Amino acid sequence: MSQAIVVRNFGNAEVLQLEDVPVSAPAEGELRIRQSAIGVNFHDIYVRSGLYKTLTLPGIPGCEATGVIESTGPGVEGFKVGDLVAYVMGPPYGAYATHRILNAELAVIVPDDLDDMLVAGNLLRALTVEMLLNRVARLEPGMTILVHAAAGGVGRLLCQMAAHMGVTVIGTVGSEEKARVATAAGCHHTILYRSQNFIDEVSRLTKGRGADVVYDSVGADTFPGSLSATAKCGHLVNFGQSSGAVDPVAMTTLAEKSLTVSRPILFHYLQDTQTYRAMATSVFEAFQKGILTAKTAETFPLANAAQAHDRLNSGTMTKPLLLVP
Ligand SMILES: NC(=O)c1ccc[n+]([C@@H]2O[C@H](COP(=O)([O-])OP(=O)(O)OC[C@H]3O[C@@H](n4cnc5c(N)ncnc54)[C@H](OP(=O)(O)O)[C@@H]3O)[C@@H](O)[C@H]2O)c1
Repeated sequence: MSQAIVVRNFGNAEVLQLEDVPVSAPAEGELRIRQSAIGVNFHDIYVRSGLYKTLTLPGIPGCEATGVIESTGPGVEGFKVGDLVAYVMGPPYGAYATHRILNAELAVIVPDDLDDMLVAGNLLRALTVEMLLNRVARLEPGMTILVHAAAGGVGRLLCQMAAHMGVTVIGTVGSEEKARVATAAGCHHTILYRSQNFIDEVSRLTKGRGADVVYDSVGADTFPGSLSATAKCGHLVNFGQSSGAVDPVAMTTLAEKSLTVSRPILFHYLQDTQTYRAMATSVFEAFQKGILTAKTAETFPLANAAQAHDRLNSGTMTKPLLLVP
């Protein structure tokens, strides 16, 4: 038997309720896992609220976790009972649980020198950074990028990796405290975008050129300004909507500066098992080498998932949130 957070109706955080759920033995190609730490992401909030209609009800949300293998199904190779594994997955989700069945293709072994709390709180965001910097846009040393919410979960890791690649990073942040967090992560220039006009600041810092690549996860509040802050022939990557959905963009708007606009979703980049494993290995190595560093996570018992969602949605977090079964 597992205990899991089951969503029976979409709505506010109160729909996240703990229930007893049976867990079967693993079938062909599957693992049974006793979970040790579960990452909480904005995606889970959109799933739970019903904004994304990607969870079949009643259903168990959650895209990432770590856990220990309790048993392996027939035909599973490369894993054994007792291994600590991690995974990131889109629909049908299911991470908000004490125990679960997992397709072995989704599991990656956690290296001995990384702990489960670090991995469960950062794998999805670090894979997102790998996707954004190496696959969606191709960054080269000397480029200038603008990162919105630069002290956030993804933003902070994005600053660390981009600075390591020799890119000049301009970051927007919501407070002086967050400016310090972004600067410590390698952000070269911070802009307090609630009190300063970030378009003017980016123009000043780039001598009127604009940023070569803009990473915008804030969405509604920043997207029009991001179009203005992108250099001619530049690339605006909208990968989130923390402040609300982005309005449609006319092709003629892009033509004004020959802009490229992307709207990537991590799960689409993880569909090929080999690519997924290569990306996971690369971010594990980045943590092992200290290129990426993790902040100690804030933890909640699994039963308090609703509280964790409200905390993440408050927009005040500068460290990962974990549910601990
Ligand atoms: N496309 C993908 O595959 C993918 C993958 C992972 C994450 N994401 C997206 O990336 C974004 C960042 O995720 P994260 O987990 O790292 O979160 P986060 O950046 O830690 O938190 C969001 C930040 O956005 C800023 N913000 C601005 N307006 C906001 C509002 N109205 N409500 C809440 N926050 C607001 C806040 O920073 P300031 O105070 O500095 O403004 C807040 O800290 C999310 O939108 C998430 O959905 C997308």
